[in-house]
Amino acid sequence: MARDVVEVEDLRKSYGSLQAVRGISFTVAEAEVFAMLGPNGAGKTTTVEILEGFRRRDGGRVSVFGFDPATGDRRLKEQMGIVLQTTGVDPYLTVAETVDMFRGYYPKPRTRAEVLDLVGLADKRDSRVTKLSGGQRRRLDVAIALAGDPQVLFLDEPTTGFDPGARRAAWEVIMGLKNLGKTIFLTSHSMDEVQFLADRVVVIATGKIVAQGTPDTLAGRQHASTVVRFRMPASVTLPEAIRGSARLEGNGVELETNDPTRTLYELTSWAVQTGISLEGLQATRPSLEDVYLEITKEAEGAPV
Ligand SMILES: Nc1ncnc2c1ncn2[C@@H]1O[C@H](COP(=O)(O)OP(=O)(O)OP(=O)(O)O)[C@@H](O)[C@H]1O
Ligand SMILES: [Mg+2]
Repeated sequence: MARDVVEVEDLRKSYGSLQAVRGISFTVAEAEVFAMLGPNGAGKTTTVEILEGFRRRDGGRVSVFGFDPATGDRRLKEQMGIVLQTTGVDPYLTVAETVDMFRGYYPKPRTRAEVLDLVGLADKRDSRVTKLSGGQRRRLDVAIALAGDPQVLFLDEPTTGFDPGARRAAWEVIMGLKNLGKTIFLTSHSMDEVQFLADRVVVIATGKIVAQGTPDTLAGRQHASTVVRFRMPASVTLPEAIRGSARLEGNGVELETNDPTRTLYELTSWAVQTGISLEGLQATRPSLEDVYLEITKEAEGAPV
């Protein structure tokens, strides 16, 4: 089993009277993509910035590669790559100068060309940061994180503002890094991203962990029933076997089943025999987004 690279136990952080992180514990294993999800203000950035050594914690234990990030040990910083949620790189430097500056902070940096290729900014090498589009700026943030060839990457909403092509490309970069044995801590509001990338997920809401698992098993997702939907003329009567579980709304029919093979068989054989076309027929399991919304709705409704 892979060793744990990040260990967090009972982490707490308040801003004045606001308890932003209220005793969370988790571990991240080496070469794992670990995603932290949660609504705006849940405490994700606070947690990441404590792990990065940018923020002081009030309580709990934190270890990254055996170091406490609060001590600012150089040996730890050299192993970390960081994409902050908001960054402040010098707008008057060029892309190449910016990457070189960050490469200079690390003992064994990647080459500039390699870094720029990885994020698709090679042709913007000589552009000033002010001249980049929002998505290109974000790519530069990712480039900076990769410059030192770090062992662990902290990515706080890394692909916000990316166009779909760039997002896919970023995912490939992240998977490539994982395959090289790098450990990746990710926050994201994109459920597609998390579904694609993450080995494990924790959901936090108002500073507490409210669910954890893999993208496929979060909140018992693998046991959730299948929803079958289709349209048919309102005048038609469904067969006995499935009528009881169906909800009708106009021409639309929706039914839930734990045995989709049988239900679809009964439904489609009936339709073929009766000569009815089931328009828009689909059978779906709840998406990660569905279970996420359910979890966070419950958590936000709960008393603090
Ligand atoms: N420097 C600060 N001073 C005071 N309050 C802060 C500070 N930084 C964050 N907060 C508050 O702490 C809470 C958690 O913020 P945090 O940035 O960790 O949330 P987040 O989960 O990253 O949200 P988002 O998805 O919007 O990025 C919020 O209520 C926020 O207003
Ligand atoms: Mg944040």
